Formats: sequence, structure tokens, C-alpha cells
Amino acid sequence: MASGRFITLEGGEGAGKSTHVDLLIESLDAAGITAVKSQEPGGGSAEAEKIRALLVEGDVGRWDPVAEALLHSAARRDHLVNIVWPALELGHWVVSDRFADSTMAYQGYGHGLDRAAIEQLYEITVGDFRPDLTIVLDLPAEEGLKRAGKRGGNEDRYERMGLDFHERLRDGFLDIARREPERCVVIDARPPREQVQAAIRDCVAERLEVEFP
Ligand code: TMP
Repeated sequence: MASGRFITLEGGEGAGKSTHVDLLIESLDAAGITAVKSQEPGGGSAEAEKIRALLVEGDVGRWDPVAEALLHSAARRDHLVNIVWPALELGHWVVSDRFADSTMAYQGYGHGLDRAAIEQLYEITVGDFRPDLTIVLDLPAEEGLKRAGKRGGNEDRYERMGLDFHERLRDGFLDIARREPERCVVIDARPPREQVQAAIRDCVAERLEVEFP
């Protein structure tokens, strides 16, 4: 179907995904590649943004894990249909701050939802489409929560879920990457931003054969 490439950045809270998506898009642009920034849940699609508000704000316990996974899946479908697939069809690249690995990590490893159920949801929502490359930015949960806390704002429902939850999902992301080494690369998010971004660029250059100037 698509001629563009789909790159996803994943990881726990405060790992710097959004900043690194911006920096990667600048670098791709310098390499002559038009890339679109995206994000889940939401991704700039009007209806998915409404679902985002239901998920990232409010009481920690407002959804049970199944309802939460369904809401993320509904937002994902909307984001794919309205933003990602049309951009790829045009030959643009899409770099997304989170995608389906976040459902496996947060609702699966974090909340204990069954792996098979999440895989089934993936098939219904996404089909056999997969990211060309997934970069997992890895950071100790405690450090990530500290960094995320400095951002402020009211989109902090997940940040309030406790350290144990965040440690489980960090292990979850590492496990996801171990299971799919041909798609996923883990990058240590602790060093200074320039060093992390250089590692991301090297990885994109190698895996997707991009020549950065
Ligand atoms: P963020 O856009 O600031 O990262 O916030 C989105 C939150 O939603 C984040 O805490 C992770 C969470 N999330 C899930 O729990 N499951 C998902 O499938 C996705 C995409 C995000």
C-alpha cells in the first residue's frame, strides 16, 4: 500500500519522545525526506483527540483495563485512517510519538490485560500493517516520572499510577523489543539529548538506509 515509512518512538513517561520526534523530523527534512509528526492517542485527528482527553485526564481508576484498551484502539484506528495511512500513500514518512506497543506495555504489562486479547485487538484495529522501525527510549521509571512531573498540566492520569506500574511497563517495553529485534531498537534515554538524538539518527540511517547530511 504505502510508499512512505512509518517510524514509532516508544517508552515510559518522561523519556523525551516528543522532543526526539521533532529532532528526527528536522533531520529527515535535511535529508530530503518529508516527514509528518504524529502522536497517540490523538495525533491531531479531531475525533481521536476527544478520545485522548478521556484517557489522559481524570481519576486513575476511571476505566477498567479492557475499556481503556478499547478506547486506545478506537483512537488508533481513527489516527491511522485519517492521518497515518493518507500521509504514507502520498509518499511521506510518519514519525509517531507512541503507537500500539504502548497498549501492550501499559494495558498489558502495566494493567495485566491478557497478551492474546491485546494481539486480537491489534488485528482488528491495525490489521497486518506494522511500523518499519520502532525506537524504544529506555529510562528508569523513577527518573522518567521525575522528568514528566516537571511538565505540569492536567494530562497526568498515567503519571499518577504509581512506581510499580511504571516499572512493569518499562520491563514490558524491553520485552517487546527483545521479542521483535527486526523491528525494535532500544536506546538509552539517560545521556544528554544530543547524544540520544545522534543514536536515533544512526539507527534510522542503518535500518532504513537514510543518508543524513
Ligand atoms: P503522552 O502523549 O503524553 O505520552 O500521554 C499518553 C498517555 O497514554 C501515556 O501515559 C501512555 C498512555 N497510553 C496507553 O496507556 N496506551 C496506549 O495505547 C497509548 C498510545 C498511550
